[in-house]
Amino acid sequence: MAAASAVTMTTKARGRAARNGGSEIAKKQRESIHSPSILGTNYLSILGTNYLSILGTNYLSPLGAKVHLLSKPPGEAFTLKDVEKGLAEHKPTLLFITHGESSSGVVQPLDGFGELCHRYNCLLLVDSVASIGGAPLYMDKQGIDILYSGSQKVLNAPPGTAPISFSEAATKKIFSRKTKPPSLYVDMSWLSNYWGCDGKPRMYHHTGPITNFFTLREGLAILAEQGLENSWNMHRENTLRLHKGLEALGLKLFVKDPALRLPTVTTISVPEGYEWRDIITYLMKNHSIEITGGLGPSSGKVLRIGLMGYNSTKTNVDRVLDALRDALKHCPRSKM
Ligand SMILES: Cc1ncc(COP(=O)(O)O)c(C=O)c1O
Repeated sequence: MAAASAVTMTTKARGRAARNGGSEIAKKQRESIHSPSILGTNYLSILGTNYLSILGTNYLSPLGAKVHLLSKPPGEAFTLKDVEKGLAEHKPTLLFITHGESSSGVVQPLDGFGELCHRYNCLLLVDSVASIGGAPLYMDKQGIDILYSGSQKVLNAPPGTAPISFSEAATKKIFSRKTKPPSLYVDMSWLSNYWGCDGKPRMYHHTGPITNFFTLREGLAILAEQGLENSWNMHRENTLRLHKGLEALGLKLFVKDPALRLPTVTTISVPEGYEWRDIITYLMKNHSIEITGGLGPSSGKVLRIGLMGYNSTKTNVDRVLDALRDALKHCPRSKM
């Protein structure tokens, strides 16, 4: 059992520490207790312009993780060449990248990323919070080792649960780690026991948010009935309709390369002469529509429109276009 083997490991290490006079092993033990990563490594590389990943980085470094942030200007995606350069330079054991980059409206191509990471002995961790169900993503084919998402976007369920999946290589790494994660709640071996993935009798770990699980299950059932590919197509078609409409209004799409435009979140360059806050406030006040501004690196540069799950409809596209047309007419415009 996870708990028993953890205790055994600690006891053995203590015995060795005592026999060796303790200093070196005790030091290693102290370090390992503070090792922050869920994968038993303190060498982590984060790629991305994802504001949230940058925020997260701020909290990993103080825990002892070596974090290397590779960034691109918002609106662009990483190429295999960019990634290979980072892998060769930093030799990370884990590479983190966001598939649906919601702060800039980019869908990050992932073909070849897993294979490349594995060539450098590195696992691939992907955030699909803003994309799962709304844009093509292939965990096995793309060689993704850890894939997580959120219940509250395309999956149409309330916030609070995060589906997560591990490849065999990631599972092996978790089960063979020699150090303790920094918190009970990020100890994936407990989580795997909770979900019956380790073939062992279930031990108490935490009380699951059962109502959220039911809503997530229903969201997934609806998606399965619709068909994953139909959902991808629906998001793509509605977003294309939105893009055409925005361009017809004279607005500029922030992501220049059409192939990199995320089908769930559209970014528009803030139109010249306007204050982005005026536009979003006008839409909320006069049309009860919430769109938002940029985040982190895209802050002040873009307006963002989310069309996800049940919200991704032609009617909603037309509604937001009408509302924006109205906002552009009525919001104050500086004389530039
Ligand atoms: C790409 C991405 N990652 C992570 C998150 C964070 O999700 P949550 O709001 O559930 O913390 C978001 C939220 O918008 C997101 O778009």
